Amino acid sequence: MSIHKSGIKRKTVTDILCQKGQEPLVCLTAYTAPMARIADQVADLVLVGDSLGMVLYGMESTVPVTLEMMVAHGRAVVLASARALIVIDMPFGYYQEGKEQAFRSAAILMKETGASAVKLEGGAEMAETAAFLTARGIAVMGHIGLQPQSVHTSGGYRVTGHDEPEQNRIMNDAQALTKAGVFSIVLECMNPVLAQEITARIMVPTIGIGASSSCDGQILVTEDMIGLSGHTVPKFVKQYADLGRELEKAVHCYANEVRARVFPDEDHIYTKTNPVKKLTTVS
Ligand code: KIV
Repeated sequence: MSIHKSGIKRKTVTDILCQKGQEPLVCLTAYTAPMARIADQVADLVLVGDSLGMVLYGMESTVPVTLEMMVAHGRAVVLASARALIVIDMPFGYYQEGKEQAFRSAAILMKETGASAVKLEGGAEMAETAAFLTARGIAVMGHIGLQPQSVHTSGGYRVTGHDEPEQNRIMNDAQALTKAGVFSIVLECMNPVLAQEITARIMVPTIGIGASSSCDGQILVTEDMIGLSGHTVPKFVKQYADLGRELEKAVHCYANEVRARVFPDEDHIYTKTNPVKKLTTVS
């Protein structure tokens, strides 16, 4: 159990596991302290996703994201949150080589950020790694279906699980990861019937993103759902706000007021201070 300095008890991996088949798990991403503070008010689980590479840094994919970037953002999110379980993504290139490399990377993420768990992409081929980590005290979340770190070999950003061979492979991935001891699995961009079937068959919670309302929980990239990601969002993202537009309006208004010398007005300068004495110039 982890108690925040505010006295609030943070959700644990066991809490998340126990919620399977109960109330749906609310999950959101956060990369920064301000967003973590907001997400923490409602989320059971906050993911410091490697999607930060695209959303915050304008990268074309998540592939260039480094361990150092994940550490910096993970630390900010853990410090700014108190309630939610914080999971941090293992970035591409820091775990695929083997289970020992994965342990070293996961240990750095856990020690440097204080996150409670790591997430890694991959199915049956990652089961040995997931088992190695869980046996050594690192809680692991799986991620199957569309795996953004593998877009260059998997045919791009597409819905997964449409034909039978692929459905069987993905079901096998879910079962292999569950056997390896993961505490939950993200199902991304997946045929909803398959997502429902996986949810019914495995013992750990499934977290859907573009998958099915039958999943045990849902996750969205927070910036996507509030209009702040700066790109067109996939069909599965519901727009809950358009903050990008609000921000544009605000900065345009500011720029106009500065150019018109309307800002700063009397209310935004220090008029009640002592008058400035006439400055004498030294020649
Ligand atoms: O990186 C991320 O934000 C993710 C979510 C989309 C699940 O992996």
